[in-house]
Amino acid sequence: MKFGLSLALALMLLVSLACSHRKTYPLQGEVRGKDLTANEVTVNHGDIPGFMPAMTMPYKVNNRAMLQELQPGDKIAAEIVVSQDGNNYWLEDVRITDESRRGKVQEPTGPRMLMPGERVLDVPVVNQDGRLIRLTDFQGKALLITFIYTRCPMPNFCPRLSSQFARIHDELKKSPGEYAKTHLLTISFDPDYDTPAILRKYGLAYLDGDETGFSHWDFASVNAKDLSPLAESLGLQYERQDNQIAHTMNIVLVAPDGTVRQYWSTEWTWTDLVKSMRHAIHDSVSSGEVHGHALYSRLCARCHDTSNPDLRKEPPNLHGLFRANVLPSGAPATDEQLRRTIIAGFKTMPAFEHTLSEADVDAIVRYLHKLN
Ligand code: HEC
Repeated sequence: MKFGLSLALALMLLVSLACSHRKTYPLQGEVRGKDLTANEVTVNHGDIPGFMPAMTMPYKVNNRAMLQELQPGDKIAAEIVVSQDGNNYWLEDVRITDESRRGKVQEPTGPRMLMPGERVLDVPVVNQDGRLIRLTDFQGKALLITFIYTRCPMPNFCPRLSSQFARIHDELKKSPGEYAKTHLLTISFDPDYDTPAILRKYGLAYLDGDETGFSHWDFASVNAKDLSPLAESLGLQYERQDNQIAHTMNIVLVAPDGTVRQYWSTEWTWTDLVKSMRHAIHDSVSSGEVHGHALYSRLCARCHDTSNPDLRKEPPNLHGLFRANVLPSGAPATDEQLRRTIIAGFKTMPAFEHTLSEADVDAIVRYLHKLN
Protein backbone atom coordinates (compact mmCIF):
# COMPACT_ATOMS: atom_id res chain seq x y z
CA MET A 1 0.00 0.00 0.00
CA LYS A 2 1.34 3.37 -0.94
CA PHE A 3 1.39 5.88 1.82
CA GLY A 4 3.23 9.16 1.52
CA LEU A 5 6.11 9.34 3.92
CA SER A 6 6.79 12.86 5.12
CA LEU A 7 4.22 14.50 7.37
CA ALA A 8 1.96 11.50 7.64
CA LEU A 9 4.57 9.23 9.05
CA ALA A 10 6.36 11.94 10.93
CA LEU A 11 3.19 12.83 12.78
CA MET A 12 2.45 9.21 13.47
CA LEU A 13 5.97 8.60 14.63
CA LEU A 14 5.80 11.67 16.76
CA VAL A 15 2.69 10.50 18.50
CA SER A 16 3.03 6.78 18.49
CA LEU A 17 6.47 5.33 18.04
CA ALA A 18 9.87 5.88 19.45
CA CYS A 19 12.23 7.43 16.93
CA SER A 20 15.73 6.13 16.95
CA HIS A 21 17.47 9.47 17.14
CA ARG A 22 16.87 13.11 17.81
CA LYS A 23 15.44 14.97 14.82
CA THR A 24 15.49 18.65 13.95
CA TYR A 25 13.33 20.75 11.63
CA PRO A 26 13.85 24.38 10.64
CA LEU A 27 11.13 26.76 11.79
CA GLN A 28 10.32 30.27 10.64
CA GLY A 29 7.50 32.18 12.17
CA GLU A 30 6.19 35.03 14.22
CA VAL A 31 6.00 35.15 18.02
CA ARG A 32 2.39 35.62 19.11
CA GLY A 33 2.73 35.37 22.86
CA LYS A 34 4.93 34.08 25.63
CA ASP A 35 4.53 32.49 29.02
CA LEU A 36 7.62 32.93 31.17
CA THR A 37 6.41 30.65 33.93
CA ALA A 38 6.00 27.77 31.47
CA ASN A 39 9.14 28.64 29.43
CA GLU A 40 6.98 28.83 26.32
CA VAL A 41 6.49 31.04 23.31
CA THR A 42 3.49 30.74 21.03
CA VAL A 43 4.62 30.84 17.41
CA ASN A 44 2.59 31.24 14.24
CA HIS A 45 4.52 29.33 11.61
CA GLY A 46 4.13 28.11 8.06
CA ASP A 47 4.30 24.51 6.90
CA ILE A 48 7.14 22.56 8.45
CA PRO A 49 7.63 19.71 5.98
CA GLY A 50 7.90 16.40 7.77
CA PHE A 51 6.70 17.80 11.09
CA MET A 52 3.54 19.83 11.06
CA PRO A 53 1.22 21.88 8.88
CA ALA A 54 1.01 25.66 9.28
CA MET A 55 -0.24 26.37 12.78
CA THR A 56 -0.08 28.61 15.84
CA MET A 57 1.16 26.64 18.81
CA PRO A 58 3.35 26.87 21.92
CA TYR A 59 6.97 25.72 21.99
CA LYS A 60 9.33 25.42 24.94
CA VAL A 61 12.47 27.54 24.80
CA ASN A 62 15.02 26.39 27.33
CA ASN A 63 17.41 29.27 26.76
CA ARG A 64 16.10 31.61 29.44
CA ALA A 65 17.96 34.70 28.19
CA MET A 66 16.53 34.22 24.70
CA LEU A 67 13.06 33.67 26.10
CA GLN A 68 13.30 36.98 27.99
CA GLU A 69 14.40 38.71 24.80
CA LEU A 70 11.58 37.43 22.57
CA GLN A 71 8.55 39.68 22.21
CA PRO A 72 5.21 39.26 20.43
CA GLY A 73 5.58 40.52 16.86
CA ASP A 74 9.19 39.29 16.48
CA LYS A 75 9.93 37.23 13.40
CA ILE A 76 12.15 34.31 14.33
CA ALA A 77 14.10 31.44 12.85
CA ALA A 78 14.87 28.39 14.99
CA GLU A 79 15.38 24.64 15.03
CA ILE A 80 12.61 22.42 16.33
CA VAL A 81 14.24 19.56 18.18
CA VAL A 82 12.26 16.35 18.69
CA SER A 83 13.53 14.11 21.47
CA GLN A 84 14.72 10.57 20.85
CA ASP A 85 11.55 8.99 22.17
CA GLY A 86 9.44 11.35 20.05
CA ASN A 87 7.47 12.58 23.05
CA ASN A 88 8.98 16.03 23.46
CA TYR A 89 9.91 18.90 21.23
CA TRP A 90 11.33 22.35 21.84
CA LEU A 91 13.13 25.20 20.10
CA GLU A 92 16.87 25.64 19.94
CA ASP A 93 19.12 28.12 18.21
CA VAL A 94 16.42 30.81 18.20
CA ARG A 95 17.32 33.93 16.21
CA ILE A 96 15.24 37.09 15.86
CA THR A 97 15.23 37.91 12.15
CA ASP A 98 13.00 40.99 12.25
CA GLU A 99 11.83 42.97 15.25
CA SER A 100 10.18 45.83 13.38
CA ARG A 101 6.70 44.56 14.24
CA ARG A 102 7.52 44.11 17.91
CA GLY A 103 4.53 44.90 20.10
CA LYS A 104 2.27 45.41 17.07
CA VAL A 105 0.48 42.07 17.21
CA GLN A 106 -2.30 41.01 19.48
CA GLU A 107 -1.88 37.92 21.59
CA PRO A 108 -3.74 35.09 19.87
CA THR A 109 -7.45 35.34 20.40
CA GLY A 110 -8.56 32.49 18.15
CA PRO A 111 -8.90 28.92 19.25
CA ARG A 112 -6.06 27.15 20.96
CA MET A 113 -6.06 23.74 22.57
CA LEU A 114 -8.51 23.78 25.46
CA MET A 115 -7.30 22.93 28.92
CA PRO A 116 -9.23 20.51 31.09
CA GLY A 117 -12.06 22.45 32.69
CA GLU A 118 -12.62 24.69 29.68
CA ARG A 119 -15.84 24.56 27.72
CA VAL A 120 -15.88 22.81 24.31
CA LEU A 121 -16.73 24.97 21.30
CA ASP A 122 -20.34 25.03 20.18
CA VAL A 123 -19.54 23.53 16.76
CA PRO A 124 -22.24 22.04 14.49
CA VAL A 125 -21.67 18.64 12.88
CA VAL A 126 -23.95 16.62 10.59
CA ASN A 127 -24.67 13.06 11.65
CA GLN A 128 -25.45 9.82 9.82
CA ASP A 129 -29.12 10.84 9.51
CA GLY A 130 -28.22 14.18 7.95
CA ARG A 131 -29.27 15.89 11.17
CA LEU A 132 -27.38 18.87 12.55
CA ILE A 133 -26.08 18.26 16.06
CA ARG A 134 -23.82 20.36 18.24
CA LEU A 135 -21.02 19.38 20.58
CA THR A 136 -22.94 21.20 23.30
CA ASP A 137 -26.08 19.05 22.79
CA PHE A 138 -24.77 16.37 25.13
CA GLN A 139 -24.74 18.27 28.42
CA GLY A 140 -25.62 15.99 31.29
CA LYS A 141 -23.77 13.10 29.65
CA ALA A 142 -20.15 12.04 29.52
CA LEU A 143 -19.27 12.46 25.84
CA LEU A 144 -16.35 10.62 24.26
CA ILE A 145 -15.22 12.14 20.95
CA THR A 146 -12.77 10.85 18.39
CA PHE A 147 -11.81 11.76 14.82
CA ILE A 148 -11.56 9.52 11.77
CA TYR A 149 -12.12 9.44 8.04
CA THR A 150 -13.80 6.41 6.56
CA ARG A 151 -11.28 5.92 3.73
CA CYS A 152 -8.43 5.66 6.25
CA PRO A 153 -6.34 2.67 5.18
CA MET A 154 -4.07 2.40 8.21
CA PRO A 155 -5.40 -0.43 10.39
CA ASN A 156 -3.72 0.98 13.48
CA PHE A 157 -5.47 4.32 13.14
CA CYS A 158 -9.13 4.94 12.28
CA PRO A 159 -10.23 1.29 12.15
CA ARG A 160 -8.62 0.72 15.54
CA LEU A 161 -10.36 3.77 17.01
CA SER A 162 -13.71 2.62 15.68
CA SER A 163 -13.36 -0.99 16.79
CA GLN A 164 -12.32 0.14 20.28
CA PHE A 165 -15.26 2.54 20.42
CA ALA A 166 -17.47 -0.42 19.47
CA ARG A 167 -16.19 -2.31 22.50
CA ILE A 168 -16.88 0.71 24.70
CA HIS A 169 -20.38 0.92 23.24
CA ASP A 170 -21.02 -2.77 24.02
CA GLU A 171 -19.67 -2.39 27.54
CA LEU A 172 -21.78 0.67 28.40
CA LYS A 173 -24.86 -1.03 26.97
CA LYS A 174 -24.67 -3.64 29.72
CA SER A 175 -25.82 -1.01 32.23
CA PRO A 176 -28.93 0.95 31.18
CA GLY A 177 -28.07 3.67 33.73
CA GLU A 178 -24.62 4.21 32.27
CA TYR A 179 -25.90 3.91 28.72
CA ALA A 180 -28.34 6.77 29.38
CA LYS A 181 -25.63 9.03 30.79
CA THR A 182 -22.97 8.52 28.14
CA HIS A 183 -22.59 9.21 24.44
CA LEU A 184 -20.04 8.44 21.74
CA LEU A 185 -19.27 10.76 18.85
CA THR A 186 -17.03 9.85 15.92
CA ILE A 187 -16.27 12.89 13.77
CA SER A 188 -14.95 12.66 10.22
CA PHE A 189 -12.58 15.35 8.97
CA ASP A 190 -13.26 14.36 5.35
CA PRO A 191 -16.69 15.99 4.82
CA ASP A 192 -16.50 15.89 0.99
CA TYR A 193 -16.34 12.12 0.92
CA ASP A 194 -17.97 11.23 4.23
CA THR A 195 -21.58 12.10 3.50
CA PRO A 196 -24.34 11.03 5.92
CA ALA A 197 -25.01 7.94 3.76
CA ILE A 198 -21.37 6.86 3.84
CA LEU A 199 -21.14 7.49 7.57
CA ARG A 200 -24.31 5.51 8.14
CA LYS A 201 -22.92 2.51 6.32
CA TYR A 202 -19.59 2.85 8.09
CA GLY A 203 -21.29 3.15 11.50
CA LEU A 204 -23.54 0.15 10.96
CA ALA A 205 -20.50 -2.02 10.37
CA TYR A 206 -19.32 -1.19 13.89
CA LEU A 207 -22.80 -1.49 15.40
CA ASP A 208 -23.30 -5.03 14.08
CA GLY A 209 -26.01 -3.69 11.79
CA ASP A 210 -28.13 -2.47 14.70
CA GLU A 211 -29.53 0.97 13.79
CA THR A 212 -30.76 1.65 17.32
CA GLY A 213 -27.11 2.01 18.30
CA PHE A 214 -27.04 5.41 16.57
CA SER A 215 -29.04 6.83 19.49
CA HIS A 216 -25.91 6.34 21.60
CA TRP A 217 -23.16 6.66 19.02
CA ASP A 218 -23.24 9.35 16.33
CA PHE A 219 -21.06 9.31 13.24
CA ALA A 220 -20.83 12.86 11.98
CA SER A 221 -18.76 15.04 9.73
CA VAL A 222 -17.77 18.63 10.21
CA ASN A 223 -17.61 21.13 7.37
CA ALA A 224 -14.34 22.63 6.24
CA LYS A 225 -15.02 26.02 7.87
CA ASP A 226 -15.67 24.61 11.34
CA LEU A 227 -13.05 21.88 11.15
CA SER A 228 -9.98 23.99 11.81
CA PRO A 229 -11.19 25.75 14.99
CA LEU A 230 -12.60 22.46 16.26
CA ALA A 231 -9.37 20.61 15.51
CA GLU A 232 -7.20 23.29 17.08
CA SER A 233 -9.36 23.44 20.20
CA LEU A 234 -9.08 19.69 20.72
CA GLY A 235 -5.49 19.24 19.60
CA LEU A 236 -6.15 17.34 16.35
CA GLN A 237 -3.61 17.80 13.59
CA TYR A 238 -4.31 16.70 10.05
CA GLU A 239 -3.08 17.31 6.54
CA ARG A 240 -4.58 16.27 3.25
CA GLN A 241 -2.23 14.48 0.83
CA ASP A 242 -3.72 13.21 -2.42
CA ASN A 243 -6.26 10.63 -1.28
CA GLN A 244 -4.92 10.30 2.23
CA ILE A 245 -5.20 12.47 5.28
CA ALA A 246 -2.31 12.38 7.70
CA HIS A 247 -3.59 12.94 11.20
CA THR A 248 -2.94 12.46 14.87
CA MET A 249 -5.05 10.13 17.00
CA ASN A 250 -7.15 12.10 19.43
CA ILE A 251 -9.74 11.07 21.96
CA VAL A 252 -11.40 13.67 24.12
CA LEU A 253 -13.68 13.12 27.09
CA VAL A 254 -16.17 15.93 27.68
CA ALA A 255 -17.68 16.01 31.18
CA PRO A 256 -21.46 16.25 31.75
CA ASP A 257 -21.05 20.00 32.35
CA GLY A 258 -19.73 20.50 28.80
CA THR A 259 -16.08 21.03 29.73
CA VAL A 260 -13.05 19.10 28.54
CA ARG A 261 -12.11 16.51 31.12
CA GLN A 262 -9.31 14.43 29.61
CA TYR A 263 -7.30 13.79 26.43
CA TRP A 264 -5.66 10.67 25.08
CA SER A 265 -3.57 10.15 21.98
CA THR A 266 -1.81 6.82 21.98
CA GLU A 267 -1.46 5.41 25.45
CA TRP A 268 -4.87 4.00 26.25
CA THR A 269 -7.01 0.90 26.22
CA TRP A 270 -10.77 0.81 25.81
CA THR A 271 -11.12 -0.17 29.45
CA ASP A 272 -9.25 3.03 30.50
CA LEU A 273 -11.72 5.06 28.51
CA VAL A 274 -14.75 3.31 30.02
CA LYS A 275 -13.32 3.83 33.50
CA SER A 276 -12.84 7.55 32.91
CA MET A 277 -16.36 7.89 31.47
CA ARG A 278 -17.75 6.21 34.59
CA HIS A 279 -15.80 8.58 36.83
CA ALA A 280 -17.05 11.54 34.83
CA ILE A 281 -20.69 10.61 35.40
CA HIS A 282 -20.33 9.54 39.00
CA ASP A 283 -18.08 12.07 40.63
CA SER A 284 -19.26 15.52 41.44
CA VAL A 285 -16.08 17.49 40.78
CA SER A 286 -17.17 20.74 39.22
CA SER A 287 -15.50 22.14 36.14
CA GLY A 288 -14.07 24.98 38.24
CA GLU A 289 -12.17 22.51 40.37
CA VAL A 290 -10.84 20.65 37.34
CA HIS A 291 -9.70 23.95 35.86
CA GLY A 292 -8.08 25.08 39.12
CA HIS A 293 -6.31 21.76 39.44
CA ALA A 294 -5.05 21.94 35.85
CA LEU A 295 -3.72 25.46 36.38
CA TYR A 296 -2.11 24.53 39.68
CA SER A 297 -0.39 21.52 38.09
CA ARG A 298 0.89 23.61 35.21
CA LEU A 299 1.92 26.76 37.07
CA CYS A 300 2.42 26.17 40.78
CA ALA A 301 3.25 22.51 41.42
CA ARG A 302 6.70 22.63 39.85
CA CYS A 303 7.86 24.94 42.65
CA HIS A 304 5.53 24.15 45.49
CA ASP A 305 5.24 20.37 45.36
CA THR A 306 8.85 19.48 44.78
CA SER A 307 12.07 20.57 46.29
CA ASN A 308 13.57 22.83 43.66
CA PRO A 309 17.30 23.48 43.97
CA ASP A 310 17.22 26.29 41.38
CA LEU A 311 15.28 28.55 43.70
CA ARG A 312 16.98 30.82 46.21
CA LYS A 313 14.28 30.15 48.76
CA GLU A 314 12.49 26.84 49.30
CA PRO A 315 8.81 27.42 48.44
CA PRO A 316 6.42 26.61 51.30
CA ASN A 317 4.08 23.65 51.17
CA LEU A 318 0.61 24.91 50.29
CA HIS A 319 -1.34 22.06 51.87
CA GLY A 320 -3.41 22.99 54.90
CA LEU A 321 -3.11 26.79 54.54
CA PHE A 322 -6.74 27.34 55.47
CA ARG A 323 -6.60 25.03 58.45
CA ALA A 324 -3.58 26.90 59.81
CA ASN A 325 -5.38 30.18 59.15
CA VAL A 326 -2.12 32.01 58.39
CA LEU A 327 0.22 31.95 55.46
CA PRO A 328 3.91 31.15 55.98
CA SER A 329 4.63 34.91 55.92
CA GLY A 330 2.21 35.45 58.79
CA ALA A 331 -0.43 37.12 56.60
CA PRO A 332 -4.00 35.89 57.13
CA ALA A 333 -5.03 32.91 54.99
CA THR A 334 -8.00 34.50 53.25
CA ASP A 335 -9.14 34.17 49.64
CA GLU A 336 -8.36 37.83 49.10
CA GLN A 337 -4.80 37.53 50.43
CA LEU A 338 -4.13 34.48 48.26
CA ARG A 339 -5.50 36.22 45.18
CA ARG A 340 -3.14 39.12 45.88
CA THR A 341 -0.15 36.79 46.32
CA ILE A 342 -0.84 35.03 43.01
CA ILE A 343 -1.44 38.22 41.05
CA ALA A 344 1.43 40.30 42.45
CA GLY A 345 3.89 37.55 43.40
CA PHE A 346 5.59 37.45 46.78
CA LYS A 347 9.26 38.20 47.44
CA THR A 348 11.05 35.56 45.35
CA MET A 349 7.84 34.08 43.91
CA PRO A 350 6.94 35.34 40.39
CA ALA A 351 3.80 37.43 39.71
CA PHE A 352 1.07 35.89 37.57
CA GLU A 353 -0.80 39.04 36.63
CA HIS A 354 0.08 38.68 32.94
CA THR A 355 -0.48 34.96 32.75
CA LEU A 356 -3.80 34.49 34.49
CA SER A 357 -7.27 35.95 34.16
CA GLU A 358 -9.30 36.80 37.27
CA ALA A 359 -11.38 33.68 36.76
CA ASP A 360 -8.19 31.60 36.58
CA VAL A 361 -6.94 33.07 39.87
CA ASP A 362 -10.29 32.31 41.51
CA ALA A 363 -10.15 28.74 40.21
CA ILE A 364 -6.69 28.27 41.74
CA VAL A 365 -7.80 29.70 45.08
CA ARG A 366 -10.77 27.33 45.07
CA TYR A 367 -8.40 24.48 44.36
CA LEU A 368 -6.13 25.55 47.24
CA HIS A 369 -9.13 25.05 49.53
CA LYS A 370 -9.21 21.43 48.32
CA LEU A 371 -5.57 20.96 49.34
CA ASN A 372 -6.56 21.21 52.98
C1 HEC B 1 9.13 29.79 40.46
C2 HEC B 1 8.66 29.11 41.66
C3 HEC B 1 7.25 29.41 42.12
C4 HEC B 1 6.09 29.31 41.41
C5 HEC B 1 5.93 28.92 39.95
C6 HEC B 1 5.03 29.61 42.35
N1 HEC B 1 5.54 29.91 43.56
FE1 HEC B 1 4.46 30.42 45.24
N2 HEC B 1 6.20 30.74 46.24
C7 HEC B 1 7.46 30.51 45.75
C8 HEC B 1 8.45 30.87 46.77
C9 HEC B 1 9.96 30.76 46.60
C10 HEC B 1 7.72 31.33 47.88
C11 HEC B 1 8.29 31.86 49.17
C12 HEC B 1 8.59 33.32 48.93
C13 HEC B 1 9.57 33.89 49.89
O1 HEC B 1 9.35 33.77 51.11
O2 HEC B 1 10.56 34.47 49.39
C14 HEC B 1 6.29 31.22 47.51
C15 HEC B 1 5.25 31.56 48.36
C16 HEC B 1 3.91 31.31 48.11
C17 HEC B 1 2.83 31.53 49.04
C18 HEC B 1 2.96 31.99 50.48
C19 HEC B 1 2.81 33.50 50.57
C20 HEC B 1 2.94 33.96 51.99
O3 HEC B 1 2.34 35.02 52.30
O4 HEC B 1 3.62 33.31 52.79
C21 HEC B 1 1.68 31.18 48.40
C22 HEC B 1 0.27 31.21 48.95
C23 HEC B 1 2.03 30.78 47.04
N3 HEC B 1 3.40 30.88 46.91
C24 HEC B 1 1.14 30.35 46.08
C25 HEC B 1 1.50 30.04 44.77
C26 HEC B 1 0.54 29.69 43.76
C27 HEC B 1 -0.95 29.56 43.97
C28 HEC B 1 1.25 29.49 42.61
C29 HEC B 1 0.72 29.14 41.23
C30 HEC B 1 -0.18 30.10 40.64
C31 HEC B 1 2.66 29.71 42.92
N4 HEC B 1 2.76 30.04 44.24
C32 HEC B 1 3.68 29.57 42.01
C33 HEC B 1 7.80 30.03 44.49
C34 HEC B 1 6.90 29.81 43.47
